[in-house]
Amino acid sequence: MNARLDDWDSTATPGTPATSTVTPTSVPGVARAADKRIVGGTADINQLAPFKYPWAWDFFLKGNRNHWTPLEIGMAQDVHDYHHKLTPAERHVFENVLAYLTTSDILAMRNIGLAVMEKMGAPELQIYQARQVYEEALHTWTYQHCIESIGLDQEEIYNRYRVVPQIHGKIALANRRLERVLHSGFDLSQRDNLHEFALSYFFFAIIFEGCWFYNGFSPIFALQRRGLMKGTAEQLQYIMRDEVLHCAFGTRVVRELLREENLSLDPAAVALLWAEAEAAETAYVEYLLPAPILGYSTTQHLGQFRFIANRRSRQLGLAEPFPGAENVLPWLDEQANLRKEKNFFETRVTEYQTGGALRWD
Ligand SMILES: [Fe+2]
Ligand SMILES: [Fe+2]
Repeated sequence: MNARLDDWDSTATPGTPATSTVTPTSVPGVARAADKRIVGGTADINQLAPFKYPWAWDFFLKGNRNHWTPLEIGMAQDVHDYHHKLTPAERHVFENVLAYLTTSDILAMRNIGLAVMEKMGAPELQIYQARQVYEEALHTWTYQHCIESIGLDQEEIYNRYRVVPQIHGKIALANRRLERVLHSGFDLSQRDNLHEFALSYFFFAIIFEGCWFYNGFSPIFALQRRGLMKGTAEQLQYIMRDEVLHCAFGTRVVRELLREENLSLDPAAVALLWAEAEAAETAYVEYLLPAPILGYSTTQHLGQFRFIANRRSRQLGLAEPFPGAENVLPWLDEQANLRKEKNFFETRVTEYQTGGALRWD
């Protein structure tokens, strides 16, 4: 129901009729769902309903079912594992995965909060994105908690993206892809800019979150499968659930944006995004794993990156960027889902029953 502005006047004396300087012509009409758009809508941005994108509100409700804090997961065994069980090569993997993730999640938080939210005015979109901003901050807290618990040198870990070229390469690529649209003056009424925004958002939601993050936890899950660093891995399983939702939301937004704007992504530009992402990922994982560790190798990591890239592309109705890629880590999806539910709800002090209702892609 649409409230009239002159129904309420804070300066009126109780018992006397409210006076208002608002003229009838300045009273907005009834907001219509049709006036909302993914970008450039005209509906009142403070009015939630009528929904145009009820699925976005549903994402917000789903996101709230995956709530935890890093303090609730025991880390004592990880401290022992790190110092007494991991090989130097495994410690190298563990530390650099955390170093990459810490930087990436700060970047993710800033991109959603500063670049995306202001351009997508429908409240149902912004409310989920507000949750996402919080979740990215929570992820950073989680890495910090792991780094602190295990006793790693915080400044050194957080600085690695500046001094390790293979980590810097991924962050620099993301910055280059997201930088221009970050500016509030980026004019989306221009068709070229709209395409660039769609492409940047595609990069962020599908590649950065849906592939780099989704696949980025795997080296630590490989340790977990051998009974090592289980606390950290459980923390990452929670983060991964969030990231799956972020990517699914982003996929839906990209589809709606392209449909609303009668826009299609330039296939050559998309192919270039994938090629750059694959090159950066290759350099990163070759640094991470100059030789395989027990249960994990660069071949597996890159094979899974390509397999997930194809899955994400199919979800958008786009051509597979890496035809023929196979599911070389069949345990990854399972590990992200069932096993965690079972372990988590059996061992946790405080139970959130609603978490069990989450569905995955
Ligand atoms: Fe995140
Ligand atoms: Fe995310």
